[in-house]
Amino acid sequence: MTILLGADHAGFALRRILADWLIARGYAVAEFGATGETAYDYPDAAAEVGRRVAANPDALGVLICGTGIGMAIAANKIKGVRAAPCWNVESARLSREHNHANILCLGARLIDPDTAIACLETFLHTAPSQEPRHLRRVEKISELDAEAQTV
Ligand code: RB5
Repeated sequence: MTILLGADHAGFALRRILADWLIARGYAVAEFGATGETAYDYPDAAAEVGRRVAANPDALGVLICGTGIGMAIAANKIKGVRAAPCWNVESARLSREHNHANILCLGARLIDPDTAIACLETFLHTAPSQEPRHLRRVEKISELDAEAQTV
């Protein structure tokens, strides 16, 4: 599986750490966004990763900025993206189980690298719950996608 990673300048260093961690564990990675610490607009990386994730139902992405918030706001504008800002293992697990998140958003200025790795590991190893209540709620999110296209 290829993990799609995007970052702005605030998330660049953490993206490199996560990419190395993934490669060491046999994942293929593709990196988008900032190429260093020079200022980079986070919606551009969110679009690069978000469009690719939306196009492939099996794809997973990671978006990193200072807080994870801007990336989530931007990526969630793309139909089919469910981008979740997470800050610990529990939020990462629940974002997959309950919300069927397909993009993990992390705040490089708010959490340390070990926590980010723990979030990523949990995100990758947690399957979306198939319990009817969660399927129903995620389907309602998809219906909002359709609404966003028409207003
Ligand atoms: C960049 O300074 C910062 O605004 C950005 O990384 C992110 O935190 C936005 O949500």
